[in-house]
Amino acid sequence: MRLKDKVAIITGAGMGMGREASVLFAEEGAKVIGLDINEKALNETAALVAGAGSEFLAVVGDVSKEADVKRAIEEGVAYFGKLNILYANAGVLWKDRDRSVIETTEENWDIVQAINLKGPFFLTKHGIPALKTAGGGSIILVGSISALAGFELAQDSYTCAKGALISLAKSLAVQFGPDNIRTNIIHPGMIDTPLQAPYLDDTKKKNIAACIPSRRLGVPRDIAYAALYLASDESTFCNGAELVVDGGFYAM
Ligand SMILES: NC(=O)c1ccc[n+]([C@@H]2O[C@H](COP(=O)([O-])OP(=O)(O)OC[C@H]3O[C@@H](n4cnc5c(N)ncnc54)[C@H](O)[C@@H]3O)[C@@H](O)[C@H]2O)c1
Repeated sequence: MRLKDKVAIITGAGMGMGREASVLFAEEGAKVIGLDINEKALNETAALVAGAGSEFLAVVGDVSKEADVKRAIEEGVAYFGKLNILYANAGVLWKDRDRSVIETTEENWDIVQAINLKGPFFLTKHGIPALKTAGGGSIILVGSISALAGFELAQDSYTCAKGALISLAKSLAVQFGPDNIRTNIIHPGMIDTPLQAPYLDDTKKKNIAACIPSRRLGVPRDIAYAALYLASDESTFCNGAELVVDGGFYAM
């Protein structure tokens, strides 16, 4: 019960790593507010969290809309009475529309920024006051190894949004450390989730696994365990850190 008596909000809780973190956090005693644009997926997560023996408040909304994020936090605090953990997990990777700067339209650039960068802006903007009221807490941002290196097959808006989150993590760590609020960022490597599904078949997965020192793709639980550490009181001296979870890919 590493998250006993904690309340967490997880964006993108409907699928992939957000769903897995919702279930793991629940198994560890947390109550979870899940914000997702996909109502059906969110309801499936709610059933899994109930099965894990905890409570889940499902809020359907779009992280790129400030009013939706504000509402999720207000409804969550009203329902559970407090908020301890902000997990800004929701993000999109659209390899068909978000490519190199010379191929990407302004419209597609902006929507990727709105979801991947403005989403965490809205979550922290409206969530930090609630963490302060609770006497402190943990903010977890989600970057990517694609923000740490260049890749020939570019998704430049995605990469820039994830890179900006590294700067945001450090800024929030310094600003709110004195309020007992720590901010850290996880950089997942290649994780087998619905986000990657359109771009991966079995042959591609096998080829990618061969390039990763751990010789496998990640699974959502690999990231959920990293988030669990950052959410729990075990990490109270961990502030402004970047945690790469990629099977050693970035070490090469
Ligand atoms: N999967 C990977 O290989 C990988 C690698 C590095 C970083 N990441 C990052 O990890 C995070 C989680 O990725 P994932 O692979 O679990 O993705 P996923 O697509 O499997 O799940 C993302 C969830 O976010 C929700 N979502 C999407 N847009 C939303 C919006 N505008 N408002 C609210 N909810 C929205 C989706 O409905 C979905 O439930 C993302 O930030 C992603 O960029 C993923």
